[in-house]
Amino acid sequence: MRKLGLNEVREAYLKFFESKEHLRLKSYSLVPKNDKSLLLINAGMAPLKPYFTGLQTPPKTRVTTCQKCIRTGDIENVGKTSRHATFFEMLGNFSFGDYFKEEVIPWAWEFVTEVLEIPKNKLYVTIYLDDDEAYELWTNKTDVDPKHIFRLDKEENFWEHGVGPCGPCSEIHFYKDEGEIISAEDFMKKSDADRAVEFWNLVFTQFDKDEEGKYNKLSHPNIDTGMGLERMATIMQGVETIFEVDTIKSILEKSSELAGVKYGEDSIKDVSLRIITDHIRSVSFMISDGVLPSNEGRGYVLRRLLRRAARHGRLLGIEKAFLVDIVDTIVENSGDAYPELKEKKEYIKKIISMEEQRFDETIDAGIDILNVYVDEIEREGKKVLSGDKIFKLYDTYGFPVELTKEILEEKELSIDIDGFNKEMKSQRERARAARKESTYMGTDVKVLDTISSEVQTAFDGYNKLELKSKVKIIIKDDKFVSSIEEGQKGIIVVENTPFYPEMGGQVGDTGIIFTEGFIAKVENCKKNIGGKIIHFVEVEKGSISVEDEVILKVDKDRREKIAKNHSATHMLHAVLRKVLGEHVHQSGSYVDDERLRFDFTHFAAVTFEELKTIENLVNKKIMEIHDVNTEVMSIEEAKESGAMALFDEKYADEVRVVKMGDFSRELCGGTHIQNCGKIGLLKIVSESGIAAGIRRIEAVTGTSALEFIERKAELLKEVSQSLKCSEKDIIGKLNQQVVEIKEKDREILMLKSKIASGAEDEILNSIKEIKGMKYAAAALKDVDGNALRDLADKIKSKMNSGLVVLGSTNGDKVQFIAMATKDALDKGVHCGKIIKEIAKIAGGGGGGRPDMAQAGGKLPEKLNEAIKQAEKIVEDSVK
Ligand code: ALA
Repeated sequence: MRKLGLNEVREAYLKFFESKEHLRLKSYSLVPKNDKSLLLINAGMAPLKPYFTGLQTPPKTRVTTCQKCIRTGDIENVGKTSRHATFFEMLGNFSFGDYFKEEVIPWAWEFVTEVLEIPKNKLYVTIYLDDDEAYELWTNKTDVDPKHIFRLDKEENFWEHGVGPCGPCSEIHFYKDEGEIISAEDFMKKSDADRAVEFWNLVFTQFDKDEEGKYNKLSHPNIDTGMGLERMATIMQGVETIFEVDTIKSILEKSSELAGVKYGEDSIKDVSLRIITDHIRSVSFMISDGVLPSNEGRGYVLRRLLRRAARHGRLLGIEKAFLVDIVDTIVENSGDAYPELKEKKEYIKKIISMEEQRFDETIDAGIDILNVYVDEIEREGKKVLSGDKIFKLYDTYGFPVELTKEILEEKELSIDIDGFNKEMKSQRERARAARKESTYMGTDVKVLDTISSEVQTAFDGYNKLELKSKVKIIIKDDKFVSSIEEGQKGIIVVENTPFYPEMGGQVGDTGIIFTEGFIAKVENCKKNIGGKIIHFVEVEKGSISVEDEVILKVDKDRREKIAKNHSATHMLHAVLRKVLGEHVHQSGSYVDDERLRFDFTHFAAVTFEELKTIENLVNKKIMEIHDVNTEVMSIEEAKESGAMALFDEKYADEVRVVKMGDFSRELCGGTHIQNCGKIGLLKIVSESGIAAGIRRIEAVTGTSALEFIERKAELLKEVSQSLKCSEKDIIGKLNQQVVEIKEKDREILMLKSKIASGAEDEILNSIKEIKGMKYAAAALKDVDGNALRDLADKIKSKMNSGLVVLGSTNGDKVQFIAMATKDALDKGVHCGKIIKEIAKIAGGGGGGRPDMAQAGGKLPEKLNEAIKQAEKIVEDSVK
């Protein structure tokens, strides 16, 4: 048996299948494309689903990949056992209606026994109960020992993952111990004990399971295989766990070094080390595919993994942010197989350290709150933390639920997860209501996505805005129909179209489809999951049937505006990299006929000065009237020429490169103007942060930019008119007004204090005696809180001994204050109590100390009554 490093196993596998005429494809992004059923790619076949179901034509009918995968279903067990992981690589060979069982079984055997040289007596094969065909092939086409073949039930040997392609499977296992496994029952025991390790699953994909749970036979059966690379590596390296595999071990060692903790000495610390090792791999790979920490979807998975790893670092006693220091080791080990790790290394580090820092800030606050909750439930003798509290921690402090759960478990408490889910659900509903989410143009996605792959639709609108084509499909009310008529809404699919379907951030074209006696307004144009171009229409006149010839005409004006904005995003992209730095990557964009939006990675707000430089540079380039050229070339050529590619985009072999002079080259399928000069002008409208490390610039071009400037000019004019000065004097006038307002403020203050001191004399003159104690009281007007307090202070000190109670209206409110000298307290005065009672009369509340108290109320009209009542209280309470 050969001894191979993880990277060598990967290469051996891909090479082997290349020798069997497979096309080697790069791993797809972890972020699924056009697949709402999946948050993250979880198997080699997941990104290939449209090829299996026939909705898309594969580049070749035999394909082999090593796919990055993430599965978080078992996250609880990660770290606790030594074989669970959230991140793993899956090797696979796929047949899209090409070869089937007869080929794949002997190939698998050949690879395992001849390339990897695994001794045959260590290998066991399982097949689906009634799959006699597989049994025949294993026994006739390979020299596996027939006693090493076991038939297992659907639970074990039928592969399905939600809806989609599935079928019976056959698995190959490695038996780690000496001796023989003699029965299926015995085999299951060994498998459960992790002594017989399944390492390769050959799925004979014959069915497409639908949402109702029906197994529909696929017209061409396929092959989908999956070999867990890390697991295979444990076998090839003769180690027990994936954490001892060369590449993963070096990550674990790096974590132990940072923590100053040795692996294998303390089982609790080992759990933390394994969690860190696994999670930081997932985190780095996800970020390299453009996922960012957030509170929902994939972003939340990322945040949760990162925070869980960070917390286990803290448990090991690491005081500072440390995850970022492990990234280099990951890139060293996997950067050759996944160049995106190398390309984005600095970016990955930046995002990790920002999120770790953020975690540091929130965790302390969150833990304090959690401790309060824990005290509370322990005091009440309960054992479960309620859903609303978990939600609050999650929502306000960014505390992943699982973290709350883990911390509570350490204290032998649990969480009310159903209650939490209920809170989450209602939050989601609130958010949805706020967004007023609509369905896919009001049409059932399912029907759209069943358009057969035989229907060909081509975009032919880069240089034409009008052309003749034939109607191939009409959909109305979620059904395929043969015609559509006046007043109806639906979808039309034609062979050839000049309409650009919404793609790459550019909106779909609008326009009309017509022929003699028929006109339909095209309201939008998109692609379905199979890549077919679909026109959303409303028929204005006449009717049209499948196979009819029609003319398709794009709204030229709108297209031109969109093109200007799209070309401007390329210019902006190039200039941003120049002004801010090479760390700027596009992370999203949206282009329509009114404005453009460009999202990019950058770690601080773009300053006003920088924005000015950026805008000026773009406009300079516009004025230099550079030609915009597009060229189709191989992806390698494009990348070599320095063309910028999108973050996690998967490109075909042939790509379209859009060039502007010699300053911008981008892979892009969008529609552009022929010369930068046509943009006319670009104005940046706003700059903002939309997520950690992601900024957004919104801008307008052409006539919209002019309108933007005109609106500003009008505003300025209005301002100058209402200030009654010329535009150039606006600033001077405003400054002058600020000075005047300050002056007036001062005057008002003076007047107020004059009023107050007038009141002072009056109050002093009206001092009474109640049971031998001096008592001053007054109901005043328009004295604010501070002045009232000063006044009370003055009166108190002038009285030497006694009690003063003042109240005043202040706008639509009323305020009270009471102050007493020490000897008045001895007589039984309590300012707090007096204030509390009289404030109540005026619709307020408050109180305070025996010697000083204040309060507010909402009913100024009750002021006199309240002050009168004060006197009564004093009379009753003073000795
Ligand atoms: N799709 C199969 C799996 O994930 C090969 O196991």
